[in-house]
Amino acid sequence: MSAYAALAERLPRAPRTWLITGVAGFIGCNLLETLLRLDQRVVGLDNFATGHRRNLDQVQAAVSPAQWARFRFIEGDIRDLATCREACHGVDYVLHQAALGSVPRSLEDPIATNAANIDGFLNMLVAAREAGVARFVYAASSSTYGDSARLPKVEEEIGRPLSPYAVTKLVNELYAGVFARAYGFKTIGLRYFNIFGPHQDPNGAYAAVIPRWIAAMIRGEPVYINGDGETSRDFCYIANAVQANLLAATVEDEEALDQVYNVAVGERTSLNQLFHAIRAALLPRFPHLEHLQPVYRDFRPGDVRHSQADITKARRLLGYEPTHRIDQGLKAAMDWYVADLAPGR
Ligand SMILES: NC(=O)c1ccc[n+]([C@@H]2O[C@H](COP(=O)([O-])OP(=O)(O)OC[C@H]3O[C@@H](n4cnc5c(N)ncnc54)[C@H](O)[C@@H]3O)[C@@H](O)[C@H]2O)c1
Repeated sequence: MSAYAALAERLPRAPRTWLITGVAGFIGCNLLETLLRLDQRVVGLDNFATGHRRNLDQVQAAVSPAQWARFRFIEGDIRDLATCREACHGVDYVLHQAALGSVPRSLEDPIATNAANIDGFLNMLVAAREAGVARFVYAASSSTYGDSARLPKVEEEIGRPLSPYAVTKLVNELYAGVFARAYGFKTIGLRYFNIFGPHQDPNGAYAAVIPRWIAAMIRGEPVYINGDGETSRDFCYIANAVQANLLAATVEDEEALDQVYNVAVGERTSLNQLFHAIRAALLPRFPHLEHLQPVYRDFRPGDVRHSQADITKARRLLGYEPTHRIDQGLKAAMDWYVADLAPGR
């Protein structure tokens, strides 16, 4: 069975209305494309703080006109409660992705991160509950594990946050938990671990490592490794994260609600290994990369040293099973980046 067919089986027979916040961003627009392909109705909310209109244009080009007609976009800000109320009206499921990502951004401007990620989050919770939304699934983060040395990471054991960003994501979990316990509101948090794939922005000071390195290699720019390269992450392809969202929105087992789940592959890749994997994936198209070496520089403040998820809980309660390991994900993402960054090749 194809991945789409498997996801389609999980959805209620009649199309439902989904609200994706942060719909013009990386994860949001991938969720949008999948839901439209599955003939669902989608409302999208975004203020283009870090997302792009071209992501929406590319989704439009990838789906049929009839599917695109089921999408309604609201340009607006989750820091405004009235906007959140408007967006939640008539919605069955919320997939809340809107936030200011990036640990370094939050260290430089904690107030902006706090406003979008905590005030905005609370607005969305209030508006979704008032609107009688059936399920509120939200983007949590592996940064919540902070300085916990335990590997692999299990949901119930977290450390102290290492950045303002990590604080905001922990507070999201606390608020969602309170809304579940105090009001019986149905929430699920997904602790994403380094998600990557098509539409992830390679540009700007706060770009994630995979798109940043792919773009640098394609453009012939230096590839910087912060630290000694032995820092490791559980890199997770976007299709796995999309699957987790749809499972979380539709799971019926009461035990699965009011929970947070690791969304990852359950494997660990060092930055040195990642450099070699990306270079190898690009070599057939860019043979001059054969002798490229990374440039090492200082460790980045706020970064955790190692990250690897235990995904047992998501497997057990959501039926989550990653379809892409890092190498399969890199291959799929590479085709998109080459088309996007090196047109005409
Ligand atoms: N990508 C990852 O590896 C990763 C890991 C952990 C958690 N997350 C979380 O997943 C979510 C999506 O991340 P992403 O990688 O797609 O980032 P992204 O920056 O591509 O998308 C975030 C979207 O939210 C929008 N947004 C920001 N502030 C807003 C506001 N005030 N009002 C309305 N829209 C607003 C942005 O314009 C953008 O389109 C975020 O909550 C992020 O913290 C991502």
